[in-house]
Amino acid sequence: MAVDGVEVDLEARFAGIVGAQHIQAGEAIGERYRVDITRKYQSQPAFVVKPATVQEVSAIVTLAAAAGMPITMVGGQTGTVGSAVPVNGGLAMSLERMNRVVEIDPLSMTMTVEAGCILQLAHEAAEAQGALLPLDLGARGSATIGGVIGTNAGGNRVLRWGMMRDMVIGLEAVLADGTIISSLTKMLKDNAGYNWKHLLIGSEGTLGIVTRAVLRLRPLPSSRQTALIAAESFEQAITALRRLEVTLSGRLSSFELMWGDFFAAMTEAQLSQRPRPMELGHGFYVVVEAMGGDAETDLAQFERVLMDMIEENVLANAVIAQSERECEAIWAVREDMTPGLTPLRPFASYDVSMGVGDMPAFVAYAQANMAKAYPDAKMLIYGHAGDGNLHAIVSTGQLNPNIQRGFDTVIFGAVRDVGGSIAAEHGIGVSRAPFLSWTRSAAELALMRVLKDAIDPKHILNPGKLLDAM
Ligand code: MLT
Ligand code: ZN
Repeated sequence: MAVDGVEVDLEARFAGIVGAQHIQAGEAIGERYRVDITRKYQSQPAFVVKPATVQEVSAIVTLAAAAGMPITMVGGQTGTVGSAVPVNGGLAMSLERMNRVVEIDPLSMTMTVEAGCILQLAHEAAEAQGALLPLDLGARGSATIGGVIGTNAGGNRVLRWGMMRDMVIGLEAVLADGTIISSLTKMLKDNAGYNWKHLLIGSEGTLGIVTRAVLRLRPLPSSRQTALIAAESFEQAITALRRLEVTLSGRLSSFELMWGDFFAAMTEAQLSQRPRPMELGHGFYVVVEAMGGDAETDLAQFERVLMDMIEENVLANAVIAQSERECEAIWAVREDMTPGLTPLRPFASYDVSMGVGDMPAFVAYAQANMAKAYPDAKMLIYGHAGDGNLHAIVSTGQLNPNIQRGFDTVIFGAVRDVGGSIAAEHGIGVSRAPFLSWTRSAAELALMRVLKDAIDPKHILNPGKLLDAM
């Protein structure tokens, strides 16, 4: 490939930066660098390069930019919209060697961490120091810090502690021309001009490569209560949410809502591993979790509010975990989804958001229009209801681009009808791009293009995704 008009051996040049043992090329490239969890998008990058320092990242970007070679960051590959699938013939960059927790500062309550660190390892490092890194999601064992920043991930505890954006205090990144930009500060308040880090957070690797971050920690709660609750109507489930928010005064950390048929499908498939934690037949089930600082009084208050709501017929039932094992069994209904989803393969999955009060209308439109267009379609709905975020799985047992497009039109049409967003937490990537204009105005899209063109004029960073894929 030519760099500045001169033919160069790019592999040798990349090897000169990171060492030959930290490059894979052609057929030797492992599957995890070519395919994501959905397996819908596959590619054959020319190289996988694994730098160990921000200076190496910068040198790689400078060289790739000079060669006109697109760069895609590859993390845990658990996103669902194809954001991290490399470009054919492009460069896949993995920060798996940049995986250190650099520092935990208990006075500032911050953690400085490299972007290749696995989320769960960051959790464990914080907990060992008596602190909580609150961002949590089912893919915690494989998702990387860079990935959860790049997508502005949400997950199970957003209603209490916010999304990744709310936890990133400082950032170090490499821009499309190789510039290292760094603001690894530890203070919450910083209004000294434009806050560039928020442009990069959630940009899906299209505006810069995050290499290191300073994250806000919270005191580690010493008590945790978990319950599975059931309600017959959506309104009752949301009444329970608001009541828990008030009564537990800020201790409610998760409210994971599941429609009855989602609960039935997941627990049915898990029966060989564990019994159902609650009987079938209710309209809605919710995994509820609260965290606090006094195990005895927290549990008593948690039990009392749930029992009160049963007596008042707000809730149909409640099972409160009495041990870590029971807690895991309750969470498994929501998080151990592989056995329940396997019979539905191939399926389409959605990640949409709207006002909580608009959810029943969204579901009614989506179900009615799906039944009209695909009478055999099975649709399972669940999500982070407190955040206005629903996920839907849709399956007819077969999936091709036409069927996918048909499902998308129904779901995103229902989102548009209620004024929601087509991408709550997984981003736009490749699969949502054709519908971005259903959720963003022409003026918003024009501003996004101005930003992209200014920050990455050659479209070197993750091209073919987000705006480029529209
Ligand atoms: C989840 O909440 O389980 C994840 O966001 C994955 C999904 O899209 O279902
Ligand atoms: Zn989710």
